[in-house]
Amino acid sequence: MKEAAAQRLIFLISLLFWTSGQVLPVRLTVIPSRSQFFEHESVILICEDENRSDGWTVRRNTTRDTRAECKGWGTPFGSTCNMDYLLPGDTGLYWCESMSGSSSSSSSIQLSVSGGSVILQSPVLPVMEGDDVTLSCRTRNPTHNLPAAFYKDGSFIGDETTGNKILNSVKKSDEGLYKCNVKGHGESPSSRISVKEKPPTTSPPSSSSSSSVSPGPGSSSVSLPVLLPSASLCVLVFLFLLVQLVVYLYSKPKVMKEEEERMTSLPETSGCSRGNRRKPNQEQEML
Ligand SMILES: *[C@@H]1O[C@H](CO)[C@@H](O)[C@H](O)[C@H]1NC(C)=O
Repeated sequence: MKEAAAQRLIFLISLLFWTSGQVLPVRLTVIPSRSQFFEHESVILICEDENRSDGWTVRRNTTRDTRAECKGWGTPFGSTCNMDYLLPGDTGLYWCESMSGSSSSSSSIQLSVSGGSVILQSPVLPVMEGDDVTLSCRTRNPTHNLPAAFYKDGSFIGDETTGNKILNSVKKSDEGLYKCNVKGHGESPSSRISVKEKPPTTSPPSSSSSSSVSPGPGSSSVSLPVLLPSASLCVLVFLFLLVQLVVYLYSKPKVMKEEEERMTSLPETSGCSRGNRRKPNQEQEML
C-alpha cells in the first residue's frame, strides 16, 4: 500500500514538472497594426503570452544586424519595444524571444519602412481563409485617397479609384507579395499576405458568401484563445485520471497475490475457519 502511494506521488510530481515545462506561445503585436511605415513614424512592438507579460524581448534581423535585441535599436520597456523614429534601415524581420534565450519564440513579422511617399496598408498577421482583406494604398500626406494600381507577385491585379482593394473571401492561392503604385507619387514596398487554413472544427453555418458578416470571424477569434487553455486543462485532467487508473490496476493484483500467499502458507486447510482453529490444536497435541 505504501508503495502504491509513493508511486502516485512520483507520478504527480513528474506531471507537475511536465506541465511547468510546457512553453506558452508568445506572439508579437504591432501598434499601429500594419507592416509598412513611412520614415520618421513610430511603432510599438509588444510581446504577449497568456500568463506572463514579462520575460520576452523583441529581436530583429535586418541587412545590418542579426538577432539584435531591442535595446540595441529601440527603447525596451518590459516585454515592449518602442521605436520612435523609423528609418528605411529598420526594414526587416521582427520576432519575440524569451529573455533567457531558451528555445521559445514567436513567429516573425516583416516590417518595411519606406523612404518614399507611398505605403501599402495590409494585415500584419496571417489572415483566415474566407475572410475579406482590405489593401489600402496610402500616400504620406493623405488629403483624400488617390487612385492606385495594385500588384501581386509583380503582376498587375487592378486599378482602384478609391485606393482600396478588397480581396473577397481569400483563399490559399491569394497568398503572395503585394504592392501598390500611385501615379505621380511612386511605389510602395512589398508586403507578404499569408492565408491560414480554417480549422475543420468551426461552426457549420459559414459559407463563403456570409464571411463578410462580422460575427463569424469575430467569434472565432474570441473563442480560440479561450478554447486552448481549457483544452490543455482537459488533457491534464485526463492524464491525471489515467494515472489513477493505472495505479489502481497495478495495485489490485498485488493485494490478491498477498491473500493468495497467506492462504497457501496454511497447509491443507482451504480457507475454512474450522480448519484454521483445528490446526493449532493439533500442533499443541503433538507437543
Ligand atoms: C535571423 O538571421 C539568422 C542568421 O542569418 C538566422 O539564423 C535566423 O533564422 C534569422 N531569424 C529569422 C526569424 O528569420
